[in-house]
This record gives sequence, structure tokens and C-alpha cells, in this order.
Amino acid sequence: MNMVDDYQFWQQRYEEEKTGWDLGQPAPPFVSFLNSTDSITPGRVAVLGCGKGYDAILFASKGYQVFGFDFAPAAISEARKNAAKKGVSIEFFQRDIFELEKEFLGSFDYVVEHTCFCAISPSKRTDYVQLVKSLLRPNGKLIGLFFTHSRQGGPPFGVTPEEIKTYFSKDFEIICLEPVNNSIPARQNEEHFGLFRRL
Ligand SMILES: C[S@@+](CC[C@H](N)C(=O)[O-])C[C@H]1O[C@@H](n2cnc3c(N)ncnc32)[C@H](O)[C@@H]1O
Repeated sequence: MNMVDDYQFWQQRYEEEKTGWDLGQPAPPFVSFLNSTDSITPGRVAVLGCGKGYDAILFASKGYQVFGFDFAPAAISEARKNAAKKGVSIEFFQRDIFELEKEFLGSFDYVVEHTCFCAISPSKRTDYVQLVKSLLRPNGKLIGLFFTHSRQGGPPFGVTPEEIKTYFSKDFEIICLEPVNNSIPARQNEEHFGLFRRL
């Protein structure tokens, strides 16, 4: 097993405050998407690998019914505190995302992806696609911000837009997959925003 597939790897990073990925705020591309005319009708949303909950809080503040999942207990505990501070109601679950299917099969209108796909070992990417498909209702959508850097190794493990399309296009219509122009400075020119519909 790759060490990144063990919750203790991530739990330790939270305990030692080595959380370089943590923006302390929702990802700007999600903010602009939800404020844009391309935005979508609020519904039930699963945030996978939700960390401290900033993206979950954003979607909840826009009227979505949000469920956040992360297998690191420290992340879930911080996410609950952050949601309480912002006065939004979100259900956070300490779960391994690869075990969600039995509990949440076909339960969601949307799945939100942000720095979870790049955190799992690349050998689990096909399982991840099947997981997202199983969590969504037919026609449900994946709203994803993908880390498309080209450095070797990880985490974060990079992926190219072409690879993303190859992984998802068998089970999803790729509505859009575009470079992002409002990434945080450290991720500029290394992110793609995707909206995919479950076939
Ligand atoms: C790079 S962090 C990103 C956290 C959050 N999305 C953010 O942007 O701040 C990856 C997160 O995914 C979680 N994670 C990784 N693999 C997971 C799995 N199999 N099940 C649940 N959570 C997982 C980790 O615990 C960690 O909180």
C-alpha cells in the first residue's frame, strides 16, 4: 500500500501542521463558478477529502446541502469547528472515501473534487472515477478543480488534462475542462476546472 492511502499519513500532517495545501479559504475558482451565470441549481453535494472544510462551507453558504468526507480525524474536527464558526450546517463524516459506496450509493446531485484526486495514489484513480460515478445520481455532476502540474512524484500527484479526459470520459460527459485564471499564486497555470455529467 502507498503511504498516502493510509489515514495516518494525513493525520500526522495535520498534527504537525505540515499542511501546505491548506488555503485557509475556499478555492477561488469555486467562488467564481458559483457566482457566475454558468452556475448550477443547488442540491445535495459530497465534498471528497474535504480537509478543514472551506469548500464545503462555501457550497453550504450558497444553499447546497453539503456532506464532507475525510479519513483524517483532525481534518474532520477542524472542519466541524470552521463550519460552526461560519454558522453553516454541514454533515462531516470521518470516512475513507473508497468505502462510501455502500452508505451513499446514488445519493448526490454533485461531487466536489479539490486536491483529493492528487492526494490518492495514482493507482487508485480508476477506483476514484468509479466511486464518483457510484455516489452520483444519474445526470449528477462532478465539479472538479484538478492539479495539472507536471512534476514527478507526489503527493500532490499531477495529471494532464488529456489523462483526466481519458479517466472520466467513459462514464461522464465532459461539459468543460478548462485552465483556470484565478488560481492562488503557487498554483498558477497548474489547475484545470472541470464540470462532468454522469452518463
Ligand atoms: C491535499 S489534502 C486536501 C484537503 C482539502 N481538499 C483542501 O483543499 O484543503 C487531501 C485530503 O484528502 C484526504 N484523503 C486522502 N485520501 C483519502 C481517502 N482515501 N479517504 C478520505 N480522505 C482522504 C486527506 O486526509 C486530506 O485531508
